[in-house]
Amino acid sequence: MHTVEPIRWTPEGVVLLDQRRLPSEVIHHTYTDYRELAKAIKDMVIRGAPAIGVAAAMGIALAVQRSRAKSIEELRAEFPVICETFAHTRPTAVDLFWAIERFKLRFEDLARPASKDEAATLERIRTELVKEALKVHEERREGDKSIGRFGAKLLPKSGRVMTQCNAGALATAGIGTALGVIRMAIEGGYRIEVIVPETRPYLQGSRLTAWELHQDRIPLTLITDNMVGHFLKTGGVGAVVVGADRIARNGDTANKIGTYGIAVIARENSVPFYVAAPLSTIDYSISSGEQIPIEERSEEEVTHLAGIRIAADVRAAHPAFDVTPARYITAIITERGVARPPFEESLNKLACAS
Ligand code: MRU
Repeated sequence: MHTVEPIRWTPEGVVLLDQRRLPSEVIHHTYTDYRELAKAIKDMVIRGAPAIGVAAAMGIALAVQRSRAKSIEELRAEFPVICETFAHTRPTAVDLFWAIERFKLRFEDLARPASKDEAATLERIRTELVKEALKVHEERREGDKSIGRFGAKLLPKSGRVMTQCNAGALATAGIGTALGVIRMAIEGGYRIEVIVPETRPYLQGSRLTAWELHQDRIPLTLITDNMVGHFLKTGGVGAVVVGADRIARNGDTANKIGTYGIAVIARENSVPFYVAAPLSTIDYSISSGEQIPIEERSEEEVTHLAGIRIAADVRAAHPAFDVTPARYITAIITERGVARPPFEESLNKLACAS
């Protein structure tokens, strides 16, 4: 199965595919300074919750690998600054904070003074954190395949499936969550056409999902966001499958702005609505979607299109995500299995399963 690669660890640095330039240009940048990599996350060079998690993991590893610290004490002083830099990039995608927590624990494990040879311990921290970042990436790849296998069984054997935004390889650094489900279904012989809403204002649907699917020759039809209701009512859509940026304990799900509306219309038309996400996207510390911080992005992304003003000089709003209440979600597909309502119970079971 061929998929695009949004991020790669190389001896020269972390290489990112610049998603801001797609689909017109395929350009890569190599990051050797972690601050630049954090800025790249903020600026949407890489985006999508799981991919942001991988980028933060590689970014922390890069920072430690290239740090000038000469003692563990110096590195221990620097480490929280590195983590904070990544924590201040995007507020909604919880995979970012999941990755940071994982690295904090691993760092403490490695830095605990077990040997008197400080130089050797420092070297070990550097190499082990790189290994940890590669492990996060590998887990993502394997997790996506597993989500895909569980999710494919829920899709219709033929017909149309709607998605939202881009929850594909570009967004996860694997085969994708929502698009991973579709990819696995197609690999299993399903005849599926993907309905891709363009996903204003940042156009992840038209710029990224349509491009990504087209690269893999997966049939698709691109629609504008205001066609969603029409297609769910009359377009023969058998299921909706989307990704997630953060899922609360009760199943309330934050995903790209517009997802909530799609879920409500899907329910109105008896179309099953699935969320596909790794367990790292579930925030067990919050009880409902009301506690999910929603990123506010620049008004200019609404008033301008490709640098051209398309509205009068007026105020505009750009919440980047919305929260779909759990009651509209048919099931949440994770790498450990499918959770069904009541989610508080089913998600908890999946977290405890090994
Ligand atoms: O603002 P973005 O492009 O990072 O938003 C991405 C989404 O909303 C995706 O649907 C979500 O992160 C899931 S990606 C597998």
